[in-house]
Amino acid sequence: MSRQPTPQDRFSFGLWTVGWSGADPFGAATRPTLAPWDYVDGLAQLGAWAISFHDNDIYPFDADEADQQQRVARVKDAADRAGLAIEMVTTNTFTHPVFKEGGLCANDRAVRRFALRKILHAVDLAGQVDATTFVMWGGREGSEYDGSKDLYAALERYKEGIDTVAAYIKAQGYDLRIALEPKPNEPRGDILLPTVGHALALIAELDHAELVGVNPETGHEQMAGLNYTHAIGQALWSGKLFHIDLNGQRGAKYDQDLVFGHGDLMSAFFTVDLLENGFPGYPDGPRYTGARHFDYKPSRTEHMPGVWESARANMSTYLMLADKARAFRADPRVREAMTHAGVFDLAQPTLGEAESVQAFAAARDHLFDPETAATRDYGFVRLHQLAVEHVIG
Ligand code: GCO
Ligand code: MN
Ligand code: MN
Repeated sequence: MSRQPTPQDRFSFGLWTVGWSGADPFGAATRPTLAPWDYVDGLAQLGAWAISFHDNDIYPFDADEADQQQRVARVKDAADRAGLAIEMVTTNTFTHPVFKEGGLCANDRAVRRFALRKILHAVDLAGQVDATTFVMWGGREGSEYDGSKDLYAALERYKEGIDTVAAYIKAQGYDLRIALEPKPNEPRGDILLPTVGHALALIAELDHAELVGVNPETGHEQMAGLNYTHAIGQALWSGKLFHIDLNGQRGAKYDQDLVFGHGDLMSAFFTVDLLENGFPGYPDGPRYTGARHFDYKPSRTEHMPGVWESARANMSTYLMLADKARAFRADPRVREAMTHAGVFDLAQPTLGEAESVQAFAAARDHLFDPETAATRDYGFVRLHQLAVEHVIG
């Protein structure tokens, strides 16, 4: 067990996480759901700092403006009274059948216009509740059949859509940044922007790129067989890690949305190590200061006590790993092993400050013998075992 979380830990939960009823493609709901505002006190009592939600977590798809306003006010009021921030808002452009072929990238232009207007409406909602991040997860943007989508046009429309949302945020004067959430598949057979790398590449093509970053989810990178810590590392390096969705996943299979740490525990350790301690060779390098946001599903075997237990487990595991990661970095054996491994040497530029590339290319380095360099022992296994000892020792 860890210490009790506090708002300073900046833990945040999507209302759709604790609010999931357990209904899946094969079975009906396994537990009741509360009203959105009824989750707020429970999360505050557990020590969370903030909540997030989709527009349709608060009001139904077909709610009229008065009903929407009344329900949003009720959630905002509950959050204010519980002392919780609303740090992120997002749009549901995946549940209603109108989105079955996509939203911003649907072949049907009328659907695209409907989706874009719904997203802009959610931007206003985000501004109204003082959220600072607007997540865009295009779960239905993609295809099952390669012949069904002009990929050039789809990316043009994705860019158009995101740039339009960014321009609207600026025009309205909201203090909001957009975070794109990649996912390789599910619900579509192949989703556009399947990984963090794809999303970063699209962001580089935007007119309003400075307002747009990524919201990487642990399980989504791992579904693609990729390394989540590498993904957030590259996003940080690019200045684009605007938000995170932490959870657990075991291997390349369906999106499990397990509790954080209940998938690949060592990967979770290095994720927390990077988030809490930054890059080893750059004490003043980029750091993630945003919400530690959990996007998980309390397993459908659990009833309400298990829902709250699982919410607590996310934070508890994170805090325990943060303690371990601090001890790991402070351990003189670890510093020595990292030095031996050359981890700190990588921060030194390969060329000298004033070195000309022509002179460098022409020179012979008589002091360097590739045969000798090839015999170097890096001690990576010992270094990793020290991490394992810190985690389970
Ligand atoms: C998923 C996604 C979603 C998004 C959410 C916010 O796999 O279903 O992770 O949960 O994070 O829709 O945009
Ligand atoms: Mn997910
Ligand atoms: Mn997510």
